[in-house]
Amino acid sequence: MEKFVIQGNTRLTGEVEISGAKNAAVAILPATLLIDGITTLENVPNISDVKIICDILTSLGANVEWTNYHTLVIDSRNLTCTHASLEMTSKFRASYYLLGSLLGRCKDVEVGLPGGCNLGARPIDQHIKGFEALGAEVNYEQGKINARAKELIGNSIYFDVVSVGATINLILASVLAKGTTILDNVAKEPHIVDVANFLTTCGADIMGAGTDTIKINGVDKLTGNHTYSIVPDQIETGTFMVAALASKGDILIKNCIYEHMDCLSAKILEMGGKIENLGDSIRVYCDGDINSTNIKTLPYPGFPTDLQPQIGVALSIANGTSIINESIWESRFQYTNELNKMGAKITAQGKTAIFEGVKNLKGSPLYATDLRAGAALIIAAIIADGTSELYNIHYIDRGYENIEDKFRKLGARIERIK
Ligand code: EPZ
Repeated sequence: MEKFVIQGNTRLTGEVEISGAKNAAVAILPATLLIDGITTLENVPNISDVKIICDILTSLGANVEWTNYHTLVIDSRNLTCTHASLEMTSKFRASYYLLGSLLGRCKDVEVGLPGGCNLGARPIDQHIKGFEALGAEVNYEQGKINARAKELIGNSIYFDVVSVGATINLILASVLAKGTTILDNVAKEPHIVDVANFLTTCGADIMGAGTDTIKINGVDKLTGNHTYSIVPDQIETGTFMVAALASKGDILIKNCIYEHMDCLSAKILEMGGKIENLGDSIRVYCDGDINSTNIKTLPYPGFPTDLQPQIGVALSIANGTSIINESIWESRFQYTNELNKMGAKITAQGKTAIFEGVKNLKGSPLYATDLRAGAALIIAAIIADGTSELYNIHYIDRGYENIEDKFRKLGARIERIK
């Protein structure tokens, strides 16, 4: 078991380089199974979720090779298996993308029921409704799900909720289907657009990614021998933007996309931070007090739920009272118990939390309850008085590449202890 030991009272300053997007990578890697050829992916985040999915692709007969720290070459010409190991796939959420990609390519798939961070109920009924609309038969048995079809035929699918996973899964399942698929009320996150761009590079016919409706004309085959670079991580960018604000620091965030950050930028400005758009870099700094504000999480382009715990840390030391309404996940306020141990005054009930700003946080033993809560607690420990020990850091390694090195370069005193 590893932990971080973090000495606080640090104002973060300097430069940080953003990695490729986790939530794009964990979808594009399964998407390579649709391609009868070799794909080179660049700007791949070197994180534990990506390593798990590489192992799963290998177990299905793909040849997966890291050619440098951020580049993967995947040869999916000779798949040998469509039933993924239940043990491997149940370890993390994005294994559900194997359903769409293997159903699309082989018309037959079985995976373990997807695991992942504990954020409350995480149904996949919209994915299943979509696969069935394309003609698949989907069955659940204990701990596993399988789907098969004689052929997949394009259809119109309206999603009852806006779902990142269902949107991507139905894109994956329909790019090789016969005829046209129209997906309505879809998610519009940057990683949706990235998956569509990747598949288009390989010969798919997809229109409308990034809008409410996506139209896919099925093609016979996706071709290999392409190189694709994964989009910069919107959530990692936001994590460092909030770290600059909360530590009243000054950070130049490099290799990121300013336009993906509109909603967070608006909130940081309201809270007294300052932002400069420098092309593919963003400078965020704060030289005064932090103001309170209210936030409601929403699908993109609304405020991302995956940045809610991080901004919660800044609100915990803001002047005045703030309210966060979490509209995506049931259990995303578990981090507030940890912040309260540090002296924060937060009352969380159901999907609402009230933050009464305090002057300082105090170092404490802390437990990451999920990936983004873990990132938020690092920020909290960096700004707190005294020393904190942060446990359960395997959650953080799932989605942030070398996070302690990145924070250390900004002046944080953070050590990983075995
Ligand atoms: C993706 O999860 C992300 N994970 C999550 O990031 C992120 O929090 C979430 O999207 C929302 O942005 C990956 O991309 C791997 P959803 P996903 O389907 O696809 C309900 C992180 O920290 N819903 O968009 O599982 C669901 O319960 C992680 O990086 C249904 O009701 O989320 C939720 O309330 C954690 N039925 C809402 O929709 C369904 O069939 C949005 O979920 C599917 C979802």
